[in-house]
Amino acid sequence: MEKIEQLYEGKAKKLYSTDDPDILWVEYMNQATAGNGEKKAQIEGKGSLNNHITSVIFALLKARGVNSHFVKRISDTEQLVRHMTMFPLEIIMRNTAAGSFATRYDVEEGTALKKPILEFCVKSDDLGDPFINDDGIVALGLATEDELAEISRQARAVNDALLDIFKAIDVQLVDFKIEEGKTSDGAILLADEITPDTCRLWDTKEGSGKIEHLDKDLFRRDLGNIIPAYEEILTRLKNLAAKEGVELD
Ligand code: TMP
Repeated sequence: MEKIEQLYEGKAKKLYSTDDPDILWVEYMNQATAGNGEKKAQIEGKGSLNNHITSVIFALLKARGVNSHFVKRISDTEQLVRHMTMFPLEIIMRNTAAGSFATRYDVEEGTALKKPILEFCVKSDDLGDPFINDDGIVALGLATEDELAEISRQARAVNDALLDIFKAIDVQLVDFKIEEGKTSDGAILLADEITPDTCRLWDTKEGSGKIEHLDKDLFRRDLGNIIPAYEEILTRLKNLAAKEGVELD
């Protein structure tokens, strides 16, 4: 497989075409951003950790019947994925009140939610990823009614599977963001990444009473170095994969 030309550079990844039109080449970068790019840093080792973490998560999801665009990891910082046309949506699932939800409704962070909440934002840096509801998505043609129903079904299935995965490694899955796309043959699939950059992950192992963040809130809120936290997540996920007999590259 050959990398041909750069198609896109995001905040944390670069995307390249390959000699196979159905396959894209993804490179994970060390850049960390927060607040729609207002805060920015280069963090040595982050790209490699996220590339490994998302690869293990996609494998663990597959073992639970949840498919994704992931094909294979090809180096420390690179992976191959299926070429998708992305829906311009940030799909957020929340199990516990935190972040912008806690602020918006003045709910204490850590409050358990009586049911998981599925939220959508329009993916637009210029607009600051504004919140949108189901009718808005269909009205603006961002997805059809049927596509939205499938995206929502998959988001809830991803949440169920991720809750199972993180519970098994003593981590509370507070909330997360995913993206979905369509393959050239019209199948809707989970895409992008699932990493501590895109999830809130609280350690339930220590039992110190205070929240131990194992995610990008360490960077967003200046709480500490993300690298040991991301390493801890990767180690626990790899141990789970080994225990479950899930093959990794
Ligand atoms: P929020 O509480 O800031 O809305 O974030 C909810 C979850 O979604 C949290 O785990 C972080 C993740 N997220 C992203 O990965 N990218 C984004 O652009 C946003 C807004 C949230």
